Amino acid sequence: MKAVSFAAYGGPEVLVWGELDDPRPGPGQVLVTVAAASLNPVDLKIRSGALKRFFPLTLPAIPGRDGAGVVAALGPGVSAPLVGTAVCFLTNGCHAERLVLAADKAVPLPPGADLTVAAALPLAGLSAWACLDGLTAGQRVLIHGGAGGVGSLAVQLARQRGARVTATCSAANRDFVLGLGAERVIAYDREDFVTECQGFDVVMDTIGGEVHRRSYEVLRPGGLLVRLNALPVEDLSAARGVVGKLATVSDDPAALAALVGLMAAGSVVPSVQQVLPMSRIAEAHRLAERGHARGKTVLVPDR
Ligand SMILES: NC(=O)c1ccc[n+]([C@@H]2O[C@H](COP(=O)([O-])OP(=O)(O)OC[C@H]3O[C@@H](n4cnc5c(N)ncnc54)[C@H](OP(=O)(O)O)[C@@H]3O)[C@@H](O)[C@H]2O)c1
Repeated sequence: MKAVSFAAYGGPEVLVWGELDDPRPGPGQVLVTVAAASLNPVDLKIRSGALKRFFPLTLPAIPGRDGAGVVAALGPGVSAPLVGTAVCFLTNGCHAERLVLAADKAVPLPPGADLTVAAALPLAGLSAWACLDGLTAGQRVLIHGGAGGVGSLAVQLARQRGARVTATCSAANRDFVLGLGAERVIAYDREDFVTECQGFDVVMDTIGGEVHRRSYEVLRPGGLLVRLNALPVEDLSAARGVVGKLATVSDDPAALAALVGLMAAGSVVPSVQQVLPMSRIAEAHRLAERGHARGKTVLVPDR
């Protein structure tokens, strides 16, 4: 099969699209023909070596953390009639024509699902899901990075739960984020979110650093500041009288199945900004390094 791989940590130039051995499903696994896979910021951090302490890899390695495709074969011990089923998944090695994964981690998609859109759901969707766990109708939530892969799904998920959503993004993405269901957008390159709004029940931080430090100022007493791993932060929650939490993103298939249901209902749908062939992986990483995503970049195996 063909796949993206890298044999050394470094810049986007270490990524190559070439021939590798076909994977074979082991006990309890399925073989999937990948239709599409998404590009996530973590792919850039893994490729650069920035995360090698947390994601130790045997090189060469195939990158890519999520995608969608069709089950092509079953490993020993898998009896479910899955061959031919369209699925999405959170697993390693997705930037390839084929992959194997545990059968119970392949989450079925509804008939007719757009696999390019479904490929963009798992990691970003489960990250939004983990952050907004416990959010209830009527709560006021501020979502930082509302135009990004995670933020654009979080805005929709928070709206679906009946929360009142304010989001930050650049002015260029204002209409996009309003279209996702935010009732108010603060353009971080034109306005200061701290002087613009106060009293949130929840702040969801996908940025970290200075954005995180200043976010304490816009929470009500006892509010929740939930974050993803992004720029380094100092947790000041105890001193500020709020709850601080690092979201734990899991590969729970039940949570992913729930997100698939919301996608099928049209309430939480990934916005695909661009689709590129996997052979253009280095270019995709360079574009992503600019840091101004509007939704998701999706990669498809070259035909
Ligand atoms: N397990 C975890 O902890 C976990 C899971 C998933 C993601 N993450 C991390 O979370 C971060 C976001 O992920 P992602 O997939 O959403 O990234 P992304 O798709 O690249 O989006 C990043 C967004 O950040 C926005 N942004 C940049 N500076 C900003 C600022 N000062 N205020 C508000 N928005 C700002 C950009 O908006 P504009 O284009 O409008 O400028 C862009 O849309 C990444 O660092 C990723 O690695 C961590």
